[in-house]
Amino acid sequence: MIYNKITPLILEKLQQIVGETYVMFDPESQANYGHDQTEKLLFLPEVVIKPRTAEEIGEILIIANKELIPVTPRGAGTGLSGGALPVYGGIILSMERFNEIIEIDERNLQATVEPGVINEVFQNAVIALGLFYPPDPASKGSCFLGGNVAESSGGPKCVKYGTTKDYILNLEVVLPTGEIIYTGANTLKNSTGYNLTQLMVGSEGTLGIVTKIIVKLLPYPKHNLLILVPFRSLDEACSAVSEVFRAGFIPSAMELMERDALDWVIRYVESSVVKLEDDIQAHLLIELDGNDLEILMKEIEAIAELIAKYNIGDILFADSEAQKQELWKLRRKINEAVTANAKSKEQDTVVPRAELPKLVRGVKQIGNNYNFRSVCYGHAGDGNLHIRIIKGDLTDEQWNGQYIKNAIAEIFILCKQLNGTISGEHGIGLIQQEYMGIVFSEKALSIQKGIKQVFDPKRILNPGKMFG
Ligand code: LAC
Ligand code: ZN
Repeated sequence: MIYNKITPLILEKLQQIVGETYVMFDPESQANYGHDQTEKLLFLPEVVIKPRTAEEIGEILIIANKELIPVTPRGAGTGLSGGALPVYGGIILSMERFNEIIEIDERNLQATVEPGVINEVFQNAVIALGLFYPPDPASKGSCFLGGNVAESSGGPKCVKYGTTKDYILNLEVVLPTGEIIYTGANTLKNSTGYNLTQLMVGSEGTLGIVTKIIVKLLPYPKHNLLILVPFRSLDEACSAVSEVFRAGFIPSAMELMERDALDWVIRYVESSVVKLEDDIQAHLLIELDGNDLEILMKEIEAIAELIAKYNIGDILFADSEAQKQELWKLRRKINEAVTANAKSKEQDTVVPRAELPKLVRGVKQIGNNYNFRSVCYGHAGDGNLHIRIIKGDLTDEQWNGQYIKNAIAEIFILCKQLNGTISGEHGIGLIQQEYMGIVFSEKALSIQKGIKQVFDPKRILNPGKMFG
């Protein structure tokens, strides 16, 4: 696809739409908006535009469509698959000024929010009313709800409550033609036509720009209990995961942390809440929530008993809010800690929960064959394993070339064999697109490309993502 550059005349038109202050093209802004949290990748946009209304976005897209200028929508830039990288230059459409919680509808347990609202800001706003918005990515303190919609983000709570997609009822979307539509209705049930809402969720800004999000809320559970269980074998930690569910429990979080992940994050945040014994290979962080504390106590004890048949160390029962917060901080900071500690690439694998032991064994075997170490952690209860491949002794050529790609492909082929797929919550974006053929047939891929063609025939929206 050949795109055009932004001429002075086009620039002037863009400035007229949003005001000069909100069109930036100085080198510092270009650099700031040229990366996200994906490795060290950098692609400079020509301009960064910060619109405030759906109508302004419509006008911008009409120009981009006519002039063939690529437009890359961007939330907070916390993505891990490169979805917000402007790989063809052009316009970065920053959604940061769409930062209003428009309405929290307590009668219907719904809210209407703008896409630039920070996940945790929104969570806290609804908690203040006794309500609950569960999807909680590790980056919840900075990521935007719009980015969450774009990637169908997850997080620890999703094992009980579902991911972003399970909370989106309706969306206002600006199409690449500049037209503004609603995708559905503000209802809990909807059997009316194709499900455009869910098509938009996880579409990574390739089909339209989301400008309003109507979400479903739940009552906030009154209590939660948290335990940290140390295992002497990674394999056993993985096996215990599905057993807890089979025994009839649904934890509100079931997170796995391999030894290195916890070790590195403890040092990174200088925490003393966990004493990591020498013979411990992995931990499960298990949370239960609900309204009846007595029932929760009984359940957590039953889970501890169930798990005690494995070769485990002393279970830590978090006994204060501060300790819970500290344990969650450790878990949430793993990605940051590992990134700070070693050059690495993250894979967001997901398999049916009971296949987790096979996935981990296979990943370690592939690591042996290709001579890399990996650090595994993530949402074990969902079968969603984040695998950080560590560069270690690999040469730059191996790391940047086909060698590591072959290793990653082997991991993804294993996921497919286990009836899983290559991303559970981080999306395909830029860096995973070459592996789409592993999990989709030619026909299934061509249907998806056909959908893109219907929405965006000139391919101006987030080009270079998902299918190239
Ligand atoms: C996490 C992010 C990386 O679970 O998804 O920490
Ligand atoms: Zn995660």
